[in-house]
Formats: sequence, structure tokens, C-alpha cells
Amino acid sequence: MRSILVTGGAGFIGSHTCLELLKNGYYLIVIDSYINSSPKIVQRLNSLFSGSRQSFKEQFKLIKGDIRDKILLESIFKDAINNKMPIEAVIHFAGLKSVEESVFNPSLYWEVNVGGSITLLRIMEQYNCRNIVFSSSATIYNCNCKSPLSEECEIKPINTYGQTKAAVENLLFSLYKNKRMDWRIINLRYFNPVGAHSSGMIGEDPRGEINNLFPYLNRVASGAIKELRIFGNNWPTLDGTGVRDYIHIMDLANAHYLALKYLLKKKNSGFLSLNIGTGKGTSVLELIKTYEEVNSCKIPFIFVDRRPGDVAISFAKNNLATSTLGWKPKRDLSDICRDGWKWEKLNPNGYT
Ligand code: NAD
Ligand code: WQD
Repeated sequence: MRSILVTGGAGFIGSHTCLELLKNGYYLIVIDSYINSSPKIVQRLNSLFSGSRQSFKEQFKLIKGDIRDKILLESIFKDAINNKMPIEAVIHFAGLKSVEESVFNPSLYWEVNVGGSITLLRIMEQYNCRNIVFSSSATIYNCNCKSPLSEECEIKPINTYGQTKAAVENLLFSLYKNKRMDWRIINLRYFNPVGAHSSGMIGEDPRGEINNLFPYLNRVASGAIKELRIFGNNWPTLDGTGVRDYIHIMDLANAHYLALKYLLKKKNSGFLSLNIGTGKGTSVLELIKTYEEVNSCKIPFIFVDRRPGDVAISFAKNNLATSTLGWKPKRDLSDICRDGWKWEKLNPNGYT
């Protein structure tokens, strides 16, 4: 069994990816501080895992801890060697992701997202583990670039969160350049990950104020929030509302599995940045319409002013990811709406 360290594996994208990797036979060591997640994820993953109970325990270990804790990280790498399961690669999800919070508390974002990554990368070097898949974001692209956005677009983030993601990508590039043939790195630049596993047993459980559209939509559908506020109806789009590239979380999880496989198989895979999106743009009104149709519900909404920092249209050119990894998003907007609502219905209070 190949041994993989997953940082932030209890979170939204991490937990769905863990399930995909478990099903594909990897041994996972997860480190998560639970700053934005819950240890209850372990029971959920256990029950979704189709192998025997014993084999889940043999394949999955979750350690509560912070990626900034050098001593803890060292002990994880050391223990893995002592157990004859040295860590071969890291999937690095751990980090803070609120654009708004990053603007109000930039030093925290630099400390966790960049400082935490530096600590992790130094320990990886020390233990000769030089394969990493990094969670990057489409938010690093120059917002004036025209969609579809390719990986060649200028990198010019406008908020602190995006700047920390671009900084980690830069750091990873320096590592690759200095130790050619040694580091194998894939940056996955996600567009808008949404939805949930089709069982509705794992999903997105945002803490505090909800900022993103999809979890907000779920709360309006459940009646917990009265109405959706749509940020602007005068964008230069077909119906005046913002257009984004919504990708089903299980398609995103599958992209991680394929990226990892690619990294571990290809001797000289080097340094790659791949857009992970469907390549299709959907407006806020289109998303609402599909959600209502699929789930036979009504989403009350009002139009309010544009949200500062928003762009009209953002969707991916995803050819590089599809041709390199042999990846293809299999689920559509209806799947996203159905699975996302199922998660909300079954877990109105998230994992608590
Ligand atoms: P999430 O908050 O659900 O998951 C992140 C996990 O990391 C959480 O479980 C959290 O507890 C953990 N964590 C945070 N700081 C930590 C630390 N210092 N040490 C250990 N664990 C820590 O977020 P997500 O949506 O699953 O995102 C995962 C990654 O993907 C993040 O790096 C995020 O920036 C990136 N990303 C997310 C999106 C998105 O829209 N969700 C888009 C692009 C990129
Ligand atoms: C989608 C559309 C809004 C909420 C953000 C981050 C980005 C990435 C993904 C991490 C836009 C509109 C939203 C609402 C609305 N995360 N909207 N009412 O802004 O594309 O990207 O999440 O890397 O960095 O910036 O996603 O879901 O917030 O917005 O009308 O209550 O929905 O204006 O058009 P966004 P979102």
C-alpha cells in the first residue's frame, strides 16, 4: 500500500478526496487542526468505505494537529518510516480560505497558508519526500483575463487569500528549479467546488458566516435563511448575474486521485499547474433554476449591489488537465444540486 499524507483531510475537499483515495487502496495519514472541520468525519468515512471495518482502520489514520507544528510533522514522517510505510507523497489541503477574512487578517493568512506550507515542505525535504499535490485556486488569475481561463493567464491575485496561494505556487516552483528531477509538483487550480457525495453523508460544513453561493442556496432551500441575495443583476452576462464554473466535489476528488497517480508513476513529471473546472460557465440564475427543478423547491431571492472584488465571468479552459491526467468531469449541474441538497437535508446542522 502506498502511504500518503493528507493535510487538511477532514475538510470539505479533503474528506471527499480521502474517500476516493481509500477506495483506490491508498494508506492515508491525515493531519487536521479541525479549525474548519470536525473529527466526526472519521465515522462518516468509515461507514462509506466499502471495505471491512478492519481494513478502514488499516488504511486511515487521522491526527489532530497543526501543519505549523514542526515537531508533530517530524514525528509523523518518522513514525511512518518506523512502521515501514514511509510517506511517498503529500496532498496539501490545509489552509484558510475566506477571501473576506484574509483581507481583514492578512498576517494570519500568510502565517497559516504560506508559513504552514514552508514548515511542511522543509520537513518533506528532510525526510526525502518530494511529491506534492497542492490545493491552488483560480482566484490567482488576473481578474481582467477573459474566460475560458487557461493556465497561461497572468497570475495577479487581488486579495490576500489569492496572494498566499500564488506565493506557495512560487515557492514550489523554486524548489523544483533548484532540485531538478527531484521535486514532483502538481498545483491544482480549482474553480468552484460544490455539491456533496451522493450518499449525502459527507459534504460542505461551513463554520461562521456563509460567503459562498452554494451553501447559501442550501440554507435558503431548508428555510434556515429567508432569501438569497444575488450580488448584481447588471453584469455583462446573458441574464445579468455572475457566471462561474461549478464543479462537483466528487469530480474534483477524482482529479486528485489521478494527479497523485500521475505524480507517483511519471519519473519526470516535474512541475505542473492544472485548472480543475468543467469548462462550462453557469450564471447564478441558471444555478437557482436547476436547483429548483431538481429538488422541487422554491428559492426566494432578491437582487442587491455587486459584491466588491467579484468578476462577471470565470470559467476554466480545462484541456491540460483532461489530456494530462485522463480526467473528465462526469457529473453535471443537476447532480450537483441533487447531491448538495441531500447533504443539507440529512445534516441541517452539519457534522455537529
Ligand atoms: P476546508 O476549510 O473545508 O478544509 C481545510 C482543512 O484544513 C480544514 O479541515 C481545516 O480544519 C484544516 N486546517 C486549516 N488550517 C490548518 C492548519 N494550520 N493545520 C492543520 N489543518 C488546518 O476548505 P476546503 O474547501 O476543503 O479547501 C481545501 C483547500 O483547497 C484549501 O487550501 C483551500 O484554500 C483550497 N481551495 C478551496 C476552494 C473552495 O472553493 N472550497 C477553491 C480553491 C482552493
Ligand atoms: C459565486 C457567484 C457571486 C453568494 C470564491 C472565492 C474563490 C474560491 C471559490 C477558494 C458570484 C454570487 C454569491 C451570494 C451571490 N475559493 N453570489 N450571492 O466568488 O466565484 O469564488 O469561492 O479558493 O477564491 O473567491 O464563489 O460562491 O462566493 O460566488 O449572488 O450570497 O455567486 O457574486 O457571482 P466565487 P461564490
